[in-house]
Amino acid sequence: MAVGERDLDAALDAVLGSGSELAPAAAALSAAYRSGRRPGEVLDDPTAARAYAAVRMPATFAAVRAALRAAGPGLRPTTLLDIGGGTGAAVWAAAATLPSLRSAHVLDGSAPALALGRRIAAGAPDPVLAGATWTQARWPVDLPGADLATLAYFAGELRPEQQVAVVAAAADRAGAVAVVEPGTPAGFADLLRARDTLLGMGFRIVAPCPHDLDCPWATGSDWCHFPVRLPRSARHRQVKGARLGWEDEKFSYVVAVRDGADRPEGRPEGRPEGRIVRHPVQRKGMVELTVCAARPGIERVIVSKRSGADYKAARDAGWGDAWPPHP
Ligand SMILES: C[S@@+](CC[C@H](N)C(=O)[O-])C[C@H]1O[C@@H](n2cnc3c(N)ncnc32)[C@H](O)[C@@H]1O
Repeated sequence: MAVGERDLDAALDAVLGSGSELAPAAAALSAAYRSGRRPGEVLDDPTAARAYAAVRMPATFAAVRAALRAAGPGLRPTTLLDIGGGTGAAVWAAAATLPSLRSAHVLDGSAPALALGRRIAAGAPDPVLAGATWTQARWPVDLPGADLATLAYFAGELRPEQQVAVVAAAADRAGAVAVVEPGTPAGFADLLRARDTLLGMGFRIVAPCPHDLDCPWATGSDWCHFPVRLPRSARHRQVKGARLGWEDEKFSYVVAVRDGADRPEGRPEGRPEGRIVRHPVQRKGMVELTVCAARPGIERVIVSKRSGADYKAARDAGWGDAWPPHP
């Protein structure tokens, strides 16, 4: 069975224990993120890497898993290259969503993050995680080939021209590329840069966008991002000094494939006709959806009780889901 957050939590428990000593390092880490410092350097310290694993890895795992799920079953990689993979959250997410996966290779500039990631993955009930390869490599480097390349919360660590170069190199070496960034205006700007680079390399978008055209929010009028709710373990709460038993991670993402570049008229497998880009608003007898549509543009879609099955689907639909539900 695919790994889930309970498996990740158990593996973190085995390696980090209660993590009670990590609270100051976790606070320093979030201060570093807020100040805009490049956390890549911060993670070059074993305690910072442990704090990252305790407070960020469950969230980055949940975000990447949501992004890969959105790409659907058309994504069937055998091999994964996780660039800037740190403690391996994206490998956990890939193991959770991609039954075709047979091997994973994590590249990162931080030896302590990799060593910790390897120990955490060694406790996973999954052969891809337990057998993953962890290589210290600071971008720019030659990348090995893979079916899928992931860049999770990594592009934003680099200067814009480096972001373009690493995404282009990933697209050159992989058949599919998934980029996930924080769901902030700055993270979305980095994401758009990655999206443009992938389209420039002839890739086609599978998720979240319903088209390969200009993003309607590229003007800066808004930013495309999605939420994922994740449970916080006792360790997570303690290290973060938080009381709530859950948190919402906001993320921006793109998953694109080289397949289908030869048939620009057809949609690549898994691409929706439209995507819900805000929380649906329920009103009496109707649901109002904000949908990024294939035309392209952002549309308000009213689904009333008279729409039958679609009304039920709209009541069940959430921010980030495909719309309409039946292609
Ligand atoms: C925010 S962490 C993300 C880790 C992981 N992908 C995740 O989603 O949890 C950013 C990672 O990028 C790595 N990093 C930063 N600059 C790098 C570079 N130039 N080359 C390789 N890795 C780098 C850091 O060591 C760190 O592990």
